[in-house]
Amino acid sequence: MFKSNKTKKLSLGIVGGGPGSWIGHVHRISSRFDDQYEIVAGVFSRNVKISTKFGKSIGILPDRCYSNYQEMAEKEFKRKDGINVVAIMTPPSSHQVIAEKFISTNVNIISDKPFAGNLEQAKKLFKSIKKNKKIKYALTHNYSAYPMVRQAKILVERGRIGKVRMINVEYVQDWSDGSSINSRNAKKKLKWKLDKNIVGSSAVLNEIGSHAYHLAMYISGLKGTNVFADIKQISPKIKMDDNAQVMINFTNGAKGMFWTSVMSRGGVYGLRIRVYGDKGSLEWVQNDPGYLKLNPSKGAVKLLERGFHNADFSRNFSRIKFGHPEGYLDAFANIYKEFAQSLKSKSNKRYFYPDEDEGFETAKFINACKVSSKSKKWVKIK
Ligand SMILES: NC(=O)c1ccc[n+]([C@@H]2O[C@H](COP(=O)([O-])OP(=O)(O)OC[C@H]3O[C@@H](n4cnc5c(N)ncnc54)[C@H](O)[C@@H]3O)[C@@H](O)[C@H]2O)c1
Repeated sequence: MFKSNKTKKLSLGIVGGGPGSWIGHVHRISSRFDDQYEIVAGVFSRNVKISTKFGKSIGILPDRCYSNYQEMAEKEFKRKDGINVVAIMTPPSSHQVIAEKFISTNVNIISDKPFAGNLEQAKKLFKSIKKNKKIKYALTHNYSAYPMVRQAKILVERGRIGKVRMINVEYVQDWSDGSSINSRNAKKKLKWKLDKNIVGSSAVLNEIGSHAYHLAMYISGLKGTNVFADIKQISPKIKMDDNAQVMINFTNGAKGMFWTSVMSRGGVYGLRIRVYGDKGSLEWVQNDPGYLKLNPSKGAVKLLERGFHNADFSRNFSRIKFGHPEGYLDAFANIYKEFAQSLKSKSNKRYFYPDEDEGFETAKFINACKVSSKSKKWVKIK
């Protein structure tokens, strides 16, 4: 366990995110934003040659470029200067076993989503995290770390839109049916996303639906209680579910409409959420992340701006003055920054990074959607 020292950088190890990966450089850059971490160890690929070459190329000493995550966990555990935190950015179904290995050596975890490949894995992982009081866990549902999303969350808490009654959330992309994909090249291009054993219980829900449901919970402060889902494969070019429509009932009686899709042509990064309460509504769109629409129902819509127009809370999660855009990397870095603060501090300060409770809820939601879509019935989230 890391001994609190506010000025010392945390030693970070990485699993996954090797050359050509989608999210690897995002983690590496974001971890450096606020000078809280130093990347000192890693295994970046299951191919040892590729992994070692890459590790050395980013400045990791040869004896800390490992052949696999098990070796890394065991050897780092034996070192006096072993890693304090491991960042996991491998495909979904491996998140649980990798995290559990490092939990067993008391290393704090930052994992990319989804929490786990399926509900069974999620249950095991959740239990292991809760059992080890020496470690903390953060999940990079990075959209929740945008300053204006956190502003939205706090406005809901402050009662600015009253009791939440309706949530409409969508996350829409188009890679399973894009013009460059055909049935011959799909496997090469989409790799593990077409393999159920790797992508987990649902490709579309694990890959992007998990973000959308997390965002709905995060801003509203509510959890889903039951769902009615229709999950389909629509693109004829691939064999994976790529569209999900879900009706959700939330804990306080609020109703939710959820749509996630990776086959909607022209749907490029269409993450949008609207939350309606009995006093007004909020709307946030990821493509324009510095702004949040607040409609107080009486009078005109107000456009709140990051760090500026009536957006006091967002300043806590911004680095650059309003008027100059911040984006995806900045938000991602907010998770790294707060996680470092929480590891270095013994105070009871409230942190806003997503944790294992939120990850487990998302896994339960995805499982309930699968069961509902199969049975064509309303299903409890449990
Ligand atoms: N938060 C986000 O916005 C976001 C965006 C993209 C991807 N992701 C998530 O990040 C994860 C990785 O996705 P990706 O698109 O970068 O995948 P990818 O296939 O592009 O990269 C995965 C990397 O992990 C390496 N790898 C796989 N198994 C390994 C192992 N056992 N040990 C060491 N290295 C291993 C591969 O060699 C590769 O370099 C997924 O869970 C995905 O859902 C999150």
